[in-house]
This record gives sequence, structure tokens and C-alpha cells, in this order.
Amino acid sequence: MYNIGVIDKINNKGIELLKNNNKFTFELITDISKKNLLKKLPFFDGITLRRGKINYELLKNCKRLKVISRHGVGYDNVDIKYIKENNIKLLVTNNSTSTSPAEHIMYMIISIYKGCNKFDSIVREGNFHKAIYVDMNENFELFKKKILILGFGRIGKKLIKKCLGFDLKVFVYDPYVSETVINSYGGIKVSNLEEGLKKADILSLSVPLNEETYNLISLKEMKIMKKNSIIINASRGGIINEDDLNFALNSKIIFFAGIDVFKKEPPDQNNPLLSNNRVLLSPHAATFTKECLENMSIETVQNLIDFFEKKINKSKIVSL
Ligand SMILES: NC(=O)c1ccc[n+]([C@@H]2O[C@H](COP(=O)([O-])OP(=O)(O)OC[C@H]3O[C@@H](n4cnc5c(N)ncnc54)[C@H](O)[C@@H]3O)[C@@H](O)[C@H]2O)c1
Repeated sequence: MYNIGVIDKINNKGIELLKNNNKFTFELITDISKKNLLKKLPFFDGITLRRGKINYELLKNCKRLKVISRHGVGYDNVDIKYIKENNIKLLVTNNSTSTSPAEHIMYMIISIYKGCNKFDSIVREGNFHKAIYVDMNENFELFKKKILILGFGRIGKKLIKKCLGFDLKVFVYDPYVSETVINSYGGIKVSNLEEGLKKADILSLSVPLNEETYNLISLKEMKIMKKNSIIINASRGGIINEDDLNFALNSKIIFFAGIDVFKKEPPDQNNPLLSNNRVLLSPHAATFTKECLENMSIETVQNLIDFFEKKINKSKIVSL
């Protein structure tokens, strides 16, 4: 019998899988404070992990722990060095976690380009008939605009199809993906970031957060971009420098941003991006659809079960 900790709330469909499998006992842990996790984690053979930071201080007491099954694909909340040294496996939901994020990126691009929030307020405030006098120079067509997709993994590959459907010209910067692969999806590879930034009307990030990508987009990069360009970040906070972004928006160095993720989550109420009306915000919600959350919870738990039943697909295990 394996004892599983379900760390943080997940959709019930995944929990049902555990309930119906007599090889497992499990506990739902909704208090993800360090104090509670320090107390609870040592009793588990495996955990599912949504939010919650699993650092050295917690892990060093977890002598039973063999596997962490992430509800998601990013794993910047886990001490990778420790789990690698101690042969704790890390699993990700690589099947279910890209469609909704790619759609969320499109939603942000379209909302910004079409001035959705502005139109919504105009109607609500009783100004319907005055709309024709509003300056529409900040509403744009997507037709023939250029997007730079930064990171051509699962999300990038889903996103490109949607972009091509809107007749966007797609450039891709990902040093780890070949030109042949990018061309086969209808994209154009750029081999240095600066070249891509110069071309882009829209920059969308779909890279993991790591030492290489931390502050990848700072003021220097924004200054290379066009003045009417927009940046969408639905990957991880910390990849864009938030202070620089706020400055660039206020100084009209770039035009607008769509931000789903923050360096610190939840962001402080005095984070200047929260009061900047050149930013469209969402609360790390790129996966927040019925389908995605159901599928992610099922995949998270199924990965864990498959691991203990020794039939886990290798593609689910992160090679550290
Ligand atoms: N907002 C959300 O709710 C949400 C949901 C899903 C994923 N994410 C984030 O999005 C990220 C991407 O997801 P994915 O499933 O596409 O991951 P993935 O691992 O499939 O793809 C990441 C791609 O980034 C590329 N890359 C790595 N370093 C790079 C660099 N310095 N420059 C350019 N490209 C680089 C890799 O080669 C890879 O192709 C995840 O790591 C996660 O942090 C966020």
C-alpha cells in the first residue's frame, strides 16, 4: 500500500482514480503552508503537487518519498538538485497542459488588439452611440502582423496553428529546436533573439523559468521592439523583468502587455502592473478551463499510479 499526499486542491476526477484503486491510501492537503507541509510530507511515498514550494528544508525529512507528480509542466517550485541526488522522480502532465494555455495566449492577443475592455465599458457606461468618435488607432488587425514565439515546445507548437489561422506571420526563437521542425509547422526560425525582437509586433513567451531565462526580457530587449508592439507572458513570472515592463509601458517604449504570471504570486497589491491600464491581467489562469483542469487532474494522478505500477511512459518523467 502506497500513501499519497495530494498537495493543493485538484479537480475531483483525479481524486476518484485514487479512491477506486486499493493499492493507495491518500490524504488531501489544502493547507500548503511550510509549517503544515513540514509536518505532513514525511509520511508520503508519493505526492501530487499543484502550488506549494517543495524545497530542501521540506525534502530532507522525506525519506519515503519516491515521486513528485506535478499538476502542470513547470517545476520551478521543486528543488531539482535535491531530488536528482536522491533519485526522486519528477512527473509532468505533458498531454493536457498546452491547449488551454495556447488558447489563453490567443485570447490575450485578441483582447488587446481589438480593445475588448474599452468596448465593454463603452456599452456598460451608456456611451454606445459615442463609440464612433473614440480614437481607434490603438485597435489593430492581426492580418499579416508578425508574432515572435519564444520557446517552441508543447505550447509554442499549439499556438502557431492558431496564429497561422489568423494570417499572422510567425517567427520562432528556440535554440533547441531545428529549422526543419519549425518550418514543418509553418514558422520561420530566427537564430538570435535580437533579430526576432526587431521584427515582432507581438512577442509571446512559452519558455520554462530557469537560470538561462530569468529576466530574459528586460528593458534592453523591449527597447529593440517596435513602439506599438505587445508582449504576452503566460509562461512564468521572472522571465520578464516587471519593473522594466512597467517603465517601458509608461514610457511608450512598447504598447501593451498581457500578463498571466508574476514573479511573486499572488502579486503585492502595490505591484505597479496592477494599476497600469496598458496591461491585461489574469491570475495564473491559462489552464483554467473545465476541460484542462479535469484532464490535468486525471493525468497527474494517473502518472503517479503508473509510476508505482511500473508502467509509466518515459515521456512523463523529467530528465534532470
Ligand atoms: N500560465 C500557465 O498556467 C502555464 C500553463 C502551462 C505552462 N506554463 C509555463 O509555460 C512553459 C512552457 O510550457 P511548454 O509545455 O510549452 O514547455 P516545453 O518544455 O514543452 O517547451 C519549452 C520550450 O522552451 C524552449 N527553451 C528553453 N530555453 C529557451 C531559451 N532560453 N530561449 C528560447 N527557447 C527556450 C525549449 O527548447 C522548449 O522547446 C512551462 O515551462 C511553464 O512554466 C504556464
